[in-house]
Amino acid sequence: MTTPRHTYGRGRLAAAFGGLAAATLAVAIAVPAAAAGSTLQAAASESGRYFGTAIAASRLGDGTYTSIANREFNMITAENEMKMDATEPSRGQFSYSSGDRIVNWARQNGKQVRGHALAWHSQQPGWMQNLSGTDLRNAMLNHVTQVASYYKGKIYAWDVVNEAFADGSSGGRRDSNLQRTGNDWIEAAFRAARAADPNAKLCYNDYNTDNWSHAKTQGVYTMVRDFKSRGVPIDCVGFQAHFNSGNPVPSNYHTTLQNFADLGVDVQITELDIEGSGSSQAQQYQGVVQACLAVARCTGITVWGVRDSDSWRASGTPLLFDGSGNKKAAYTSVLNQLNAGGTTNPNPNPTTPVPTPTTTTPPPTGGGSCTATYSEGQKWGDRFNGTVTIRANGNISGWTSTVTVRSPQKIIATWSGSPSWDSSGNVMTMRPSGSGALSSGQTTSFGFTVQHNGTWTWPSVTCAAS
Ligand code: G3I
Repeated sequence: MTTPRHTYGRGRLAAAFGGLAAATLAVAIAVPAAAAGSTLQAAASESGRYFGTAIAASRLGDGTYTSIANREFNMITAENEMKMDATEPSRGQFSYSSGDRIVNWARQNGKQVRGHALAWHSQQPGWMQNLSGTDLRNAMLNHVTQVASYYKGKIYAWDVVNEAFADGSSGGRRDSNLQRTGNDWIEAAFRAARAADPNAKLCYNDYNTDNWSHAKTQGVYTMVRDFKSRGVPIDCVGFQAHFNSGNPVPSNYHTTLQNFADLGVDVQITELDIEGSGSSQAQQYQGVVQACLAVARCTGITVWGVRDSDSWRASGTPLLFDGSGNKKAAYTSVLNQLNAGGTTNPNPNPTTPVPTPTTTTPPPTGGGSCTATYSEGQKWGDRFNGTVTIRANGNISGWTSTVTVRSPQKIIATWSGSPSWDSSGNVMTMRPSGSGALSSGQTTSFGFTVQHNGTWTWPSVTCAAS
């Protein structure tokens, strides 16, 4: 097993810029440190993790909802719109309009998408509920193939199979029409998903799998261990993490996450919500975040909705924002815990990226010019951070910077700027969050995380002044 690198707290930023000259270092720390960590996504990105939310297409017209979602989260799950009943309402007739609304909103705002869910005993369309045997198996596999192919290249991770294990003490599979097609239905679904979208991470996702001593947790663990030993393509395990007073966050949560990660899969907290209020709720949220950050392969956390009023169990006020969009105590405890740090993802074989030259634009008529300089930040097994420092040569009233990454690299998170994207997704145009005015010699910085997908070439950067 690779020993994860441990980095802690705000000092991580300094480590990220270790190779820079002192003067540049001072600037690089001064600017991003003020903004990095001030939102959930920025704070999580510092250790190479994402922070996500479930989004409902029906709420995308609500400005309070979208502005919180855009500001705080960089991983998006469709709450209902990519489920089987939504995407294949009639057999062989696929409907992606609601799912597309969410995927498009996410991509336009520079966010990644978790796909939820390809195969599940619940929320099946009526026609599927009535099938059995080979006919159902083929219909399920066709569904997995069609939906994963349609969204190919746009999904960070798929919940390939959802909730297939029974509650209670059996530790076995849940009875369902899919289970009755044969015990190998889960691995068949994973193989179909891998064939359809080889680059998406493939997850098994379930609830009540948080307590290490519970039979259901052990049942899922045994299946994942078996899949890994037989080469069934599984990359991750999703822990839904729906908690309340009857089902509180277990004290052995970290053990559970670590034991699964030790099987050689990523673990993700996929649908977090905790009923309650005040400091008790805040403490439980903190415990969940702490457990994830203590596990190098816990790659991200998703909460199951934005405001309490958006929740599937709104009366339990289980989320991080109240119905008016105000940050709750739970929000502050999550943010503080993310900023307190923990493990980063292991970097088993880092390669030094090839630097690309700095470019300087000619001065615009009547004003100064700007220079964009790229500096490398932290690196992990599958991603690296970068910072672009913008320097004004003469007074400028604003700036625009482009960051071009080499396909198949993808920028998966940004901070300290307002990004937009070209249609390829490889060219990001970054604009200042505020006015962007700089006097001669002044600098500012923004940052981003690149999922390298095997390519370590540094991004090329430019700056245009206005
Ligand atoms: O959109 C229709 C609306 O037109 C209709 O008037 C209304 C009346 O029934 O229903 C609306 O659809 C509801 C839908 O949520 C959107 O609000 C469905 O009935 C309702 O069943 C559905 O509930 C979803 C539930 O999954 C279904 O199983 C919840 O929103 C969603 O949060 C929840 O999410 C699940 C995860 O997928 C898996 N893990 C558990 C989690 C919580 O149950």
